[in-house]
Amino acid sequence: MTSERTKLDAMGTLRRSHGCGQIDRSCVGEEVVVAGWAHRRRDHGGVIFVDLRDQGGLVQVVFRPETSTEAHERAGDIRSEWVILARGVVEARSAETVNAKMATGEVEVNVHELRVLNSASPPPFPIEEEAGADESVRLKHRIHDLRRPPLQRALAVRDALSRAMRQSLSSQGFMDIETPMLARATPEGARDFLVPSRMHPGSFYALPQSPQIMKQLLMVSGFERYYQIARCFRDEDQRADRQLEFTQVDLEMSFVGVEEVLAVLEKTTRDGCLGAAGVELPEPFPRMSYSEAMDRFGCDRPDTRILLELVDMTDLFSTSGFKAFKGVVDKGGIVKCLPVHDADGISRSEIDRLESFVRKELGARGLGWIRIAEDGEWRSPIVKFLTEEERAAIAERSEARPGSLLFFQADVADKANAILSRLRIDLGEKLGRVDGRDWDVLFVVDFPLFERDDKGQLTYVHQPFVAPLEEDIPLLETNPEAVRGTHYDVVMNGTELGSGSLRNHRADIQRDILRALGYSEEQMQQSFGFMLDALELGAPPHGGFAFGFDRMVMVLAGADSLRDVVAFPKTQRGQDLLLEAPSPVATDQLDELSIRVRLPKPE
Ligand code: AMO
Repeated sequence: MTSERTKLDAMGTLRRSHGCGQIDRSCVGEEVVVAGWAHRRRDHGGVIFVDLRDQGGLVQVVFRPETSTEAHERAGDIRSEWVILARGVVEARSAETVNAKMATGEVEVNVHELRVLNSASPPPFPIEEEAGADESVRLKHRIHDLRRPPLQRALAVRDALSRAMRQSLSSQGFMDIETPMLARATPEGARDFLVPSRMHPGSFYALPQSPQIMKQLLMVSGFERYYQIARCFRDEDQRADRQLEFTQVDLEMSFVGVEEVLAVLEKTTRDGCLGAAGVELPEPFPRMSYSEAMDRFGCDRPDTRILLELVDMTDLFSTSGFKAFKGVVDKGGIVKCLPVHDADGISRSEIDRLESFVRKELGARGLGWIRIAEDGEWRSPIVKFLTEEERAAIAERSEARPGSLLFFQADVADKANAILSRLRIDLGEKLGRVDGRDWDVLFVVDFPLFERDDKGQLTYVHQPFVAPLEEDIPLLETNPEAVRGTHYDVVMNGTELGSGSLRNHRADIQRDILRALGYSEEQMQQSFGFMLDALELGAPPHGGFAFGFDRMVMVLAGADSLRDVVAFPKTQRGQDLLLEAPSPVATDQLDELSIRVRLPKPE
């Protein structure tokens, strides 16, 4: 957009003396040189004001014809986001022109010399705190978006967190070791991104879903404390807390049990949060078992600042005349209740809105509810199906009293829990049923090793290398579902920050587990042969963890989505709107890779 008229200057020998944000009263009378982007420009009857912005802040620079006719004249050309360098003298603003909203609002720079270093096409949205622009517009124009304060702040948190965690791990004796990006499929449960090999036509590398296998191989190789800030790639559905490529602070240690790993995790999390955001976390971290988390909160990453809790009522309905609920229990489902006391503020139309939300968004079959009115009367579409005794039992278990509102879900356990846990968060936040803490951190422990998938097949809860508790090893053959794993999670403000476990360091136990998961000897050898072989080379007992680094930044920066803490993120549909990736490639490039594309038929 450099018009013919716009003459651009070189910096020459002029260099910045100050950052824009550094100029304050103490600089009054000094000659300074500042450089940056023209954030805002105003022309007030012959005097031109520009808010000049660099990475560190804003300062007002003023062009007065009486100070420099030339600078004033050229300042008339300046438009939003032009890059300029200005030499001038810092002056105190008069009392009535002080801008209290600006950190440097007491002063301004009276410009003697202006250099226009570059022009710029008009920005698609103002570079303000609130962009007021649709997310897809912000992603397409990511360069402008990155100039805005929220992303500048988030990336600063990112940088500080990575430094603090590196320092912490290094001080705890961990060694930074890189592992390959061009690797083999790893079993984190998502689809792999494949990279075709030119030299081996028809063969593919897989981008790592995590460095899991490689870090275990490093333990066998004798590195006792490994860490890495590792990029991971998973071709899975995108959500606010999931990106196709993301970063882990990955670590692994030898000759340890669960307690030693948790001690490292606690220190690293504390050091990271303190260093990145000045956040002090409790010591020690509270611990909660997986089953308690599911029981009380309906999810394995509870935000315990929200005071509402779920109550299980499955047994009360196992003999009930209320067929809708009893039928679910007969089929192995559960009935759970979310009691909300002093709920007069929740109107009937709000209940209808909640019902339509859980139906449409969460796939609920409905939303059962009972309101206990101030006069003690039970108002509810379902109360007519309940006996006097059932009502008494429900009231007792939910501690219901006049003013209480009870929400019910009867469904398979996963779904009932997922729906009520979401409702718990929504209502807890809306009604302010929170304990006032800014930060909530806990370990979730005692996960089962296996669970059943939709088809009833045994599957792993975390990943197939998790070691069982020693005392449960005999159950692997007889009652695998009862086997407890050594898996632990760190949860902060309702987000799973990371996961880890002790691993199977004995090949025979690893084989037993793969067998329980339904692998034939042949499949085992094919998928994990090199891993099983490695375990026979003298593998020490070991265990580790991976922090989801982006998620940690998201929580510390108070962002709602990973897209707000990653410099160049992908959309929900996995696209980079700035780079326009993914994109088709030229046929000769495909030929070189011996690849022919067969597009799916349009639906
Ligand atoms: P897991 O698969 O639980 O464990 O991943 C560890 C942590 O990484 C983060 N995470 C993600 N962040 C952004 N986008 C994603 N798509 C995504 N997927 C996961 C989460 C998660 O808690 N190898 C094991 C760790 C181990 O056992 O040591 C692993 O990768 O915060």
